Amino acid sequence: MPIILWKIVALHLTTITTFSYCFRNDVTSDDNLQIPAIAKYFSTKGRYEEVNPYLIEDILAVNRSILQPPSAQCREIHLTAIIRHGTRYPTTKNVKKMLKLYDLVKTSASGKQNWLHEIQTQWTMWYTEDMDGRLVQKGVSDHKHLAVRLSKLFPSLISEQKLRSGLIQFITSSKHRCINSTISFKAGLTELWDIKDQEFDHAVNDALMRFFDKCTRFVQEVDNNPSALTEVDKFKQGPEMKRVQEKIADRLRVPYNTITDDMAEAAFYLCAYEFAIKTVNSPWCQLFDEVDAQVMEYANDLKQFWKRAYGYDINSKSSCILFHDVFSRLDKAANEKTSGQQVTEAVTVQVGHAETLLPLLTLLGFFKDTQALNSTNYAAQTNRTFRTSHMLPYAANLILVLYDCGGGDLRLQPLLNEKPVTFPGLGDQQASMPLYQNVREHYRELLQGCDFENECQLFKHPEEV
Ligand SMILES: *[C@@H]1O[C@H](CO)[C@@H](O)[C@H](O)[C@H]1NC(C)=O
Ligand SMILES: *[C@@H]1O[C@H](CO)[C@@H](O)[C@H](O)[C@H]1NC(C)=O
Ligand SMILES: *[C@@H]1O[C@H](CO)[C@@H](O)[C@H](O)[C@H]1NC(C)=O
Ligand SMILES: *[C@@H]1O[C@H](CO)[C@@H](O)[C@H](O)[C@H]1NC(C)=O
Repeated sequence: MPIILWKIVALHLTTITTFSYCFRNDVTSDDNLQIPAIAKYFSTKGRYEEVNPYLIEDILAVNRSILQPPSAQCREIHLTAIIRHGTRYPTTKNVKKMLKLYDLVKTSASGKQNWLHEIQTQWTMWYTEDMDGRLVQKGVSDHKHLAVRLSKLFPSLISEQKLRSGLIQFITSSKHRCINSTISFKAGLTELWDIKDQEFDHAVNDALMRFFDKCTRFVQEVDNNPSALTEVDKFKQGPEMKRVQEKIADRLRVPYNTITDDMAEAAFYLCAYEFAIKTVNSPWCQLFDEVDAQVMEYANDLKQFWKRAYGYDINSKSSCILFHDVFSRLDKAANEKTSGQQVTEAVTVQVGHAETLLPLLTLLGFFKDTQALNSTNYAAQTNRTFRTSHMLPYAANLILVLYDCGGGDLRLQPLLNEKPVTFPGLGDQQASMPLYQNVREHYRELLQGCDFENECQLFKHPEEV
């Protein structure tokens, strides 16, 4: 079965290649027509290719010279990858919202635009509630292709020999979209190396990959607490969002009060899902211009900010368990290397959710702006670094690579979505990868504390507050 699948992928790639060859001069503009003008604002519903546009031309493209170890002696000795699942169907809750909007447009919209006519006469509502966030075929490809690219970027670590000898470990959240992503990642490697005589396990571990469900303090104070998102609610009732809703109503020629913030969100999702899943520039996208899309993006960023990131301290602290897990693997590899032993775990591939990655990125200090995102500073936040469209598309990944540069010189290179990044606050080492001991020193307080049990209990002991 996996072999047949690979052949289909290969065939598919051949078709694309042939196509682009025949229409060489047109291929870029033709591709661009398929991309909605607002695709770069889809937040956590965004396509991975929007973050790395060179992949649109060649989905297996890798540029090894982005990795610049300070000396030619440096060797990769360990890699941990924390990866979001691939492209998926909408969840039941969002399908319901989409259905409501579709019914309204179908029965009440009276605009005369071609795209509206297309929605009303040709487009069919094919999303069903039982899709429930499952991984789609594009999501399978997301992970297969990522696996192949990472094996090209780190050939000495993600290698057939290391896979065969059990030095690559797979850990996943229990959600079907994550398990299927993990299986797809493994299939990307086994098909690449044509491995048919061996299978590779994965461990399901929700304590690590869905820590947010297990952190009582987070669940009570944020996740199940409606007042935790007041800034989001206020923004959705505010002038910027009102204007977006009115413009949608104008385009459809329906009364203003029929387009709620939920309806606007559903329209945005429809455009985003049609693109992510089917790579089509759907007529639904015509309900937004770029200014509208920026407002929708901000509403999503605001939600992620308060629910998973800097909004509340517990959001990032809920990831303490994953933070320690990552550093204990790095420590183990570092200690084995330093004492002249073989590194027993070369690679760990961990598959989870946007909600897994964002708290960890926040704990590490990434994408922290000077001002908090709130309901009244939309304009002032135009140049914010906190942009989930850039950080968390489908298959988003944080990769930490430990290098041995000889003479006990261990260095750590972080990459986000396959691009080198620098640990915030370790900026003076921008040109080169920081020494691992400097990274440990930088995060000393977290390494000594950040205790999941303690942070996540509802009432902390006074001496630990
Ligand atoms: C590869 O990355 C290097 C360093 O960032 C850059 O100078 C070079 O232009 C890139 N090559 C390609 C083909 O993109
Ligand atoms: C994902 O896994 C389930 C079984 O858990 C299977 O039924 C489904 O077809 C898989 N989906 C994809 C896209 O591989
Ligand atoms: C939002 O943040 C700005 C600073 O960027 C501050 O001046 C303003 O009072 C805040 N608004 C609310 C509602 O907290
Ligand atoms: C954002 O950056 C642009 C370009 O650097 C600048 O012109 C603009 O004033 C900035 N906006 C804000 C609100 O800081």
